[in-house]
Formats: sequence, C-alpha cells, structure tokens
Amino acid sequence: MPGLLLRTLRGENTAERPVWLMRQAGRYLPEYRALRAQKGGFLALVYDAEAAAEITLQPIRRFGFDGAILFSDILIVPYAMGQDLEFLTGEGPHLSPRLADAALSALHAVPARLAPIYETVKQVRAQLPGDRTLLGFAGSPWTIATYMVNGEGSRDQHETRAMAYRDPVAFQAIIDAIVAVTVDYLAGQILAGAEAVQLFDSWAGSLAPAEFERWVIAPTARIVAALRQRFPQVPVIGFPKGAGEKLVAYARETAVDAVGIDETIDPLWVARSLPDGLPVQGNLDPLLLLAGGAELERQTLRILDAFADRPHVFNLGHGIGQTTPVEHVGHLLALIRNWRR
Ligand code: CP3
Repeated sequence: MPGLLLRTLRGENTAERPVWLMRQAGRYLPEYRALRAQKGGFLALVYDAEAAAEITLQPIRRFGFDGAILFSDILIVPYAMGQDLEFLTGEGPHLSPRLADAALSALHAVPARLAPIYETVKQVRAQLPGDRTLLGFAGSPWTIATYMVNGEGSRDQHETRAMAYRDPVAFQAIIDAIVAVTVDYLAGQILAGAEAVQLFDSWAGSLAPAEFERWVIAPTARIVAALRQRFPQVPVIGFPKGAGEKLVAYARETAVDAVGIDETIDPLWVARSLPDGLPVQGNLDPLLLLAGGAELERQTLRILDAFADRPHVFNLGHGIGQTTPVEHVGHLLALIRNWRR
C-alpha cells in the first residue's frame, strides 16, 4: 500500500496526518553540518550522489517524516541551461551571465548537469522505507526566471518584472525554455524513483493579477499537463508562495494535485475557499517552530483542526530556519501524530 503522504496527495482523507517540512534536510541538523564541513561546498554536496542521498535520509532517520525531499536545489535548472552557478557563503546563489545583460541564445546548455541528480534519487529510493514517499522538485518557471534574469536573489524581483513588461516576447522565450527543461528534469526524477513532485514558486507573490496569470499560472499549467500525460499517478504539488487570494485561480487553472500555502494565509479561509477535496499542504510559520512554546502548540492544533475535512499534508509556510532547535521539531511531530480527526 502506498504511504500516508502519497495517499493524501492522491486525495484520500486519512485518519492520521502526514508531515514533512520544507528544507528538512539542512543546516539546523548537526549531522548535515558535519557532512557539509567534510565535503566542502553546497554544490559539491549536491553533485556527490552518495552524500546527497545520505543528507536526504538524515531527517527521516531522526524524525520519521512521511516524506523525504531530494537534497538538491532549484538552481540546478539554470545551471543545466548553461549559466555558471556559485553559492558564496553568507551571500546566497550567483548565476552568470545574467539574462538582464546576455541573451538566452548566448547560453550553451549542459544537460549532463542533470543526470547526477537522478542518481541521488535512485540511491534514496533504494534506502527509503517503502511507506515513506520520495519527493522530487523543481522551481517554477517564474521563480527560476527571477534568478536567471537578475543573477541573484532580490527583494521584489523588480529587474525581472520590468523585463516582462518591457519585452514580453523575449521574456516568454525564457519562460518557455525553462518549462521545457523543467518537464524533462521532473520526468527524469520520476523515472529514477520520485513518487510526487513539488514546484517551488517562492516569488509568486510579487506579481500583479494579470502577470500572475501569465507568468505563474500558465507555465505551471503546461508543466502539470505534460507530466500528467506521461505520469498520471504522480501528484504535483504547486507552492505559489505569497499568492494570497490568487490561490483560488491558481488551484482552479493550473490543475495541480495539491496546493502549498504559506503562513500568511488563514487556514480557515483556505478550508472554505479552495475546492472541496483538493489536498492542501502547510502552513505553520517557521518562526513559530523556532520560537516553540504554548503558541506553537496552539497554532499547530488550529491548522490540524481547520483541515479536518479535507486531505491535508502538515508542513511549514516556507523553509525551516537554520537556528531552529532540533527538539522543537520532535515536539511538533508528537503533536501532529497524537491528533485524531
Ligand atoms: O527542502 C529540502 O530540504 C530540499 C533541498 C532544497 C534546497 N533548496 C537545499 C538548499 C530545496 C527544495 C531548495 C529550494 C530552493 N532553493 C528555493 C525554493 C524554496 C525557498 O526557499 O524559497 C530557492 C529560492 C532556492 C535558491 C537558494 N538555494 C537560495 C536563495 C539559497 C541560499 C539561502 C540559504 O538558505 O542558504 C540556497 C542554498 C541552499 N539550498 C541550502 C540548502 C540546504 C543552504 C546550503 C548551505 O549553505 O549549506
């Protein structure tokens, strides 16, 4: 029988609540920091399939999460599209040449930069207990484009939003190219053993409604349609962070199997505004997990109660903070596991 997480993503209202946390493999775990120190940089870890598989499994061993998310990064797609990628300590990622300065046609694709990731997926699947779900992922085209155009993160994605207004034809070509690579990349992860995939759209919140339709919803719908045709059994989770009330259109028009929600959204609003039976994932504030205490318990129970009548995957509203005490994660899992519908 498929595990609890996969059944929930397929629309089943299970008695127990599945849980995994975005960025569950990473710096808040001492065993991750130890392996990272031994292997060198972040990208070196991602390209060492054995190490990346071990890191993917670390949080499963420690906490028994229902899902393991592949240890990699969304910026592997621009890297395979031919941009250079560097992660500088304390500075975040850098891509070059940035598409604000160079044409898309100036990039020379390096598809071989994707294959080692499939090897990690295979190694994880071979070691993961059968009732735990292996999640693959990619960034959504809009979020990937913001990094490709600006070359690094930015506060409000203004460079990329301006390009999309100024030259929508050139920007559409960038989005189309990302869609094509993303479909291949997610198909490769699925063929290697990923049982569900998540599209991270971390910067979906910076777009006005018409641009949200064009640059978030439309490309996401194309990826979902292409994957569904080839892999009808593999759920796609869409996570348009910051989408707010635009979540309603997103859920209806992209045809994702499940919608991730961030912590700025009231779970009670989601429960009454999204289509009945649509699985949702989220949405505890990661800062509350860091803070701990009575408020963590109160809001965890509030989320569990709000989604009592629909398939729900417990998660955070975005990635776990690196200074989160490991004991708080254990406490959260106990709260979720003791809850009953
Ligand atoms: O969730 C997981 O445990 C799986 C692995 C994963 C990573 N990044 C590992 C990582 C996933 C799913 C991502 C997604 C990702 N990467 C997103 C979307 C989600 C989000 O956080 O909004 C984005 C925007 C990126 C791009 C990225 N990668 C940035 C901006 C940074 C630097 C900031 C930071 O948190 O360090 C990274 C580096 C990165 N990706 C680390 C990890 C564990 C830190 C690497 C290290 O220094 O050890």
